[in-house]
Amino acid sequence: MPTTKIIQLSLEHPDADKIRCAVEVLHAGGLVAFPTETVYGLGADAMNAGAVQKVFEAKRRPSDNPLIVHVASLENVQQFTASVSEKGLKLARRFWPGPLTLVFQKKINIPDGVTAGLETVALRVPDHPVTLELLRQFKGGIVGPSANVSGKPSPTSAEHVYNDLNGKIDLILDAGSTTIGIESTVLDVTIDPPVILRIGGLSYEDIEKVIGDVRCTNEAELLRRSPGTRHRHYAPNAQVILFTKADEKNYKLLIQQNKKLQKKIGSITYSKSLADIEQSSFHVVMKSSIEYVARNLFKALRELDRQEVDVILVESVEEKGLGAAVMDRLRKAAFHNS
Ligand code: TXA
Ligand code: MG
Repeated sequence: MPTTKIIQLSLEHPDADKIRCAVEVLHAGGLVAFPTETVYGLGADAMNAGAVQKVFEAKRRPSDNPLIVHVASLENVQQFTASVSEKGLKLARRFWPGPLTLVFQKKINIPDGVTAGLETVALRVPDHPVTLELLRQFKGGIVGPSANVSGKPSPTSAEHVYNDLNGKIDLILDAGSTTIGIESTVLDVTIDPPVILRIGGLSYEDIEKVIGDVRCTNEAELLRRSPGTRHRHYAPNAQVILFTKADEKNYKLLIQQNKKLQKKIGSITYSKSLADIEQSSFHVVMKSSIEYVARNLFKALRELDRQEVDVILVESVEEKGLGAAVMDRLRKAAFHNS
């Protein structure tokens, strides 16, 4: 494939003609990366088995990891679902468009690649003017895994997509950086109480306010309901080491130890007390609001990789609201390359 084309779009007034080009690519079975409020997605026609297969190849995604189908509104859900539970419907009405993916019983005619052979299908209406216009013009469903090479931090800008997938996909719709910066929350509403399969842009607390109790899974149930979660995720090339929030002593110790080992050190911190601590290489100091941290986390991990650091020391965040999603990503990043 020749180099990937990039089309720039304004958030306020997305140009419908430019979006029509993307729709044509999708109808022809091509691949189009699109912005959402969470991260960039890698789009293909959900009902075109060949196009779906190309998504797996471009991303080098393991075939047992199913894809989210993006639709323009709740009305489009019945194209893909055999049944929709009461609680699922209530959540969709309250939070769509938004960072919530709902897992329903699938309709039989969906290509197997989309659902990785499961009996369920994951659906989401993204909250982004460009992609909502794309979905409205396209009319059907667009699969959208994060538009990164599998296992790497998700892309929060068109540049990240280009760095990972140039030459492997047809087009990128560039509408600047994403606002939430962490993927959607995935909730299985085929059972009661519903089960969280991935915590993300929508918090437990917000979901429970609308439907009462939701459950977390144990490892075995998670693998049965969402087999793709077994794979490496969110991991930069460097080793990630998490340390306790505002723990100055431990942070200094980690720097000393890694310096002794001749490691090139990167770090990501938020607490004021850590901002000025001297260390050898690259220090990303973020504002301490959890929204800011979520929005910039994947970008920071990618930047530190570009600096070719050996190890990234990351300060933990408080595990509530969006903080639960940030800690989930950081633990996975730390686990998979420790
Ligand atoms: O925010 C997001 O969700 C982004 C944007 C582009 O919408 N997409 C995204 O897709 O993060 P991806 O493929 O990187 O993550 C989708 C998650 C995976 O953990 C996958 O295993 C799970 O959703 N999933 C998809 N279909 C499923 C199904 N039928 N049952 C259970 N889990 C499913
Ligand atoms: Mg992903």
